[in-house]
Amino acid sequence: MADKWANLDDAMTASRKKTIAELFAEDPDRAKRFSVEAAGWFLDYSKNRVDRAAMKSLVKLAEESGLKDEIERMFTGEKINRTENRAVLHTALRNCDPAAKVFVDGKDVMPDVRATLARMGDFADRVRTGKWRGYTGKRIRYVVNIGIGGSDLGPVMANLALTPYAKRSLRFFFVSNVDSTHLAETLRAVKPAETLFIVASKTFTTQETMSNARAAREWLVGRLPGVNPNDVVSRHFVAVSTNADEVSKFGIDTANMFGFWDWVGGRYSLPSAIGLSLMIAIGRANYAKFLKGYWKMDCHFRTAKFEKNMPVIMALLGILYSDGYGAETYCCLPYDQYLARFPAYLQQMDMESNGKGVDRDGKPVSRATGPIAWGEPGTNGQHSFYQLIHQGTHLIPCDFIGCCKTHNPIGDLHDKLMANLFAQTEALAFGKTAEQCRAEGVPEELVPFKTFTGNRPTNTLLCKELVPETLGALIALYEHKVFTQGVILNIYSFDQWGVQLGKVLAKGVLADLTAEKPAGGHDGSTAQLIARYRAAVGR
Ligand code: F6P
Repeated sequence: MADKWANLDDAMTASRKKTIAELFAEDPDRAKRFSVEAAGWFLDYSKNRVDRAAMKSLVKLAEESGLKDEIERMFTGEKINRTENRAVLHTALRNCDPAAKVFVDGKDVMPDVRATLARMGDFADRVRTGKWRGYTGKRIRYVVNIGIGGSDLGPVMANLALTPYAKRSLRFFFVSNVDSTHLAETLRAVKPAETLFIVASKTFTTQETMSNARAAREWLVGRLPGVNPNDVVSRHFVAVSTNADEVSKFGIDTANMFGFWDWVGGRYSLPSAIGLSLMIAIGRANYAKFLKGYWKMDCHFRTAKFEKNMPVIMALLGILYSDGYGAETYCCLPYDQYLARFPAYLQQMDMESNGKGVDRDGKPVSRATGPIAWGEPGTNGQHSFYQLIHQGTHLIPCDFIGCCKTHNPIGDLHDKLMANLFAQTEALAFGKTAEQCRAEGVPEELVPFKTFTGNRPTNTLLCKELVPETLGALIALYEHKVFTQGVILNIYSFDQWGVQLGKVLAKGVLADLTAEKPAGGHDGSTAQLIARYRAAVGR
């Protein structure tokens, strides 16, 4: 069988032939030809180093990787997360087809998905309308989500993104870090009798989350004196988890637990009960629209031909740059303040999924796997790191994300914002030649400094407006992009063994930080750091 990677070599040969500027010059229809639309998003990928031949070769790479079958395996509940022996069914969470059935181990998961959504909706309604009250009878005004990783980044990102839809009389906080400052500063901002804590943890054993949750419980019980602690907990704590036993042990009645399942990966869990804080903020109707957006993109990904398939196209372009050109990173640049946390959310989704060093046979990979994802809201980035993207020696493919309408029209600010977005992609693609500089009268000695090579690739993603549906679709777009890259790279995208070692070692280190007589056994550097810390805190 021919090596599928020969298709990438072919794509590279085509890609190197012409610059982006030359490609535009030879094809007046290029912009149209290299654009697709799906689920409320328009992707213009014409400012990439690809022509039709290159795209054809890249599509062949996807085909010869068995992508079509892998997509079906995921959507139909096969246990494609082999190292954990789990199905991967975040798509079932937002399957809006009322007749859909999705089976895991012979059991249709959809009735449980729908029942949980209904319970979440009921609970969200009660909090929003004031029917659910704190122990003293006061309305809930503050909601504190305690969770980390996938139990935090999604809720944080989406709550900010959908601020225009949020009930403004409720305030939302997110505590993730085991740094006590995070919890302390949050508790300073809330009133105990009016606060609902959502302890969000798939496993309900995560050190950071459980430590913060216990501390929050202690704080609350201490501030409502004379009250049975169990009563305080039952009115002010709910749990989102897959682990009913641990939830009970913590003291939360499982009647106040919203479950999900082992076939939902942490970083893919936002559309599960992990989205409870979001549902409380925006209400069940908007939450349903949010899920619908996901679903639209899911359907597009599952059915569209690869040449017209938005997540597949973005994945293939990513592979071209990382494995073809050796680009180590890509940049996500939302030109919408509400999407400020989207790059951070993307980091876990992409890097925890595809940051792998062995293939599906457990052999060391021979190609670069998942790229480093980073980014900031657009114009802030322009005044910070864009210099390197325009003129530096690294190739940084960029995704520009913009919304045609703003929720907050003030004068011409939105026109200016979008003008910056479009101009950046123009500058990166076409640059500025030395001749252009000279024609503008740039002194000869400054010409090298004022020249822009151009030919720097960008995708532009545009939607009409950031509404719940477009946010859901945007998240699903990147999820499926990451999935596609994992399939092509022949790695497992849904486990995360790389986070384990540090977690385990931290337990031993913690014991040595606190014990009267540390057990030791660390390397010289770690032992020195432990000793220094102990001395500083007087142990
Ligand atoms: O960082 C590792 C990880 O397992 C993530 O995958 C997950 O999102 C996070 O920890 C939190 O886990 P949990 O929801 O079980 O507390």
